[in-house]
Amino acid sequence: MILLTSLTLILLLAILIPPTSPSPSPTSSDHDIQTLKHLKQFRTPSGFRQSMPKLIASVRKGPGKRDWVTMQYIAGGYHQMARKLNSAGGLEEEENQTLKLVVATYKMAESVYVDWLSLGEDDYPQLEYVMERTTVLRHWGDALKSLGMEDEAEMVWRKGVEEGLWKREMCRPEREVEVVGEGKWFYELEEVFETKVVERIRSSIEGVREEYVADVEAGRGPETWKKEEAGLHSTKSWSQLPLYVDGDRKTVVCDERYKKTCEVFGPKNFDGAAKGQVKFSVMEGNTYVRPHAGPTMERLRLHCSIVGAVGADSWIRVGNEKRRWDVGGCFVFDESCEHEVSITEVVDGGEYRVVLIADLANVFLKDFDDYREARWEGGGG
Ligand SMILES: *[C@@H]1O[C@H](CO)[C@@H](O)[C@H](O)[C@H]1NC(C)=O
Repeated sequence: MILLTSLTLILLLAILIPPTSPSPSPTSSDHDIQTLKHLKQFRTPSGFRQSMPKLIASVRKGPGKRDWVTMQYIAGGYHQMARKLNSAGGLEEEENQTLKLVVATYKMAESVYVDWLSLGEDDYPQLEYVMERTTVLRHWGDALKSLGMEDEAEMVWRKGVEEGLWKREMCRPEREVEVVGEGKWFYELEEVFETKVVERIRSSIEGVREEYVADVEAGRGPETWKKEEAGLHSTKSWSQLPLYVDGDRKTVVCDERYKKTCEVFGPKNFDGAAKGQVKFSVMEGNTYVRPHAGPTMERLRLHCSIVGAVGADSWIRVGNEKRRWDVGGCFVFDESCEHEVSITEVVDGGEYRVVLIADLANVFLKDFDDYREARWEGGGG
């Protein structure tokens, strides 16, 4: 694998040098035209279902060495299926089988890719659809990790570091941006907010709790909230109530149920993230969220524990560090770094661990333009 990686690097350099004599293979053009149609269809909403069998057939029939982009899409399709099987619940065996297909297909795509690089062929129309290298490595590694193949997963992510896509294996954004300092797994409020914001957040927790309790008493508790369906957790006991999504205020929830919470945590009050959320996240005991790394470095994520003390062996891990939620306390973490959650039991304050989550623009971004873009600047927050 190490050999393969350094080979990839060498070949990546080779691709920058145009081949002396282009070597188009005339037999491939019909194949390419058909394949491009299917790739285009794959990209339409829910088009992947119809296009998957066609893409698979296309790889089987095709002139071999050219179809690594198609293979990436097939792997991506399996990846989506695995997520759906996870969300459906109770289909772990099917999910595992699908994850094995994800892994096998990415692996095949990689080896065809390496061969393709060595040919130095620049006439390859499928390139128009090529998946981001970071996406490939993120999904491929995640699938390995879900199957318990940790060492193999790390090798895949290390490729990303060796190819200069990421600084650290543990943090795997779609696009790495420069930050000030080394980057920590967790931050205290004081490290990211001005004093007056820290005070405002801390002094608001009691009021947030009151609004939550009133909501529960009015029969609008977590049982009525939306179940999380990202396909990342192993039980059906993770629910969320969004207050803001990408700066967009959920008017009814904010006006009628969480007036104070929305005011304090609305994105304008602490340079919230342009793309991010403010929400309640509620988990029951016996909930496990498998390791995943968020796609963007543009935001940091604030957690404030509102209700529900968790047992001593419940934790959130970010990178190499584990923390617990202390009711009334808050912390911030870098969501682009791998994180994992295990709630074994809720020992006090009811059956739910209730956390308020708010995304803020990453204050450690080095370039002020990056920061300005990351920050929510709309009105009405
Ligand atoms: C699925 O894979 C995981 C990770 O290897 C394993 O722990 C689990 O038992 C598997 N589930 C089934 C039903 O095979």
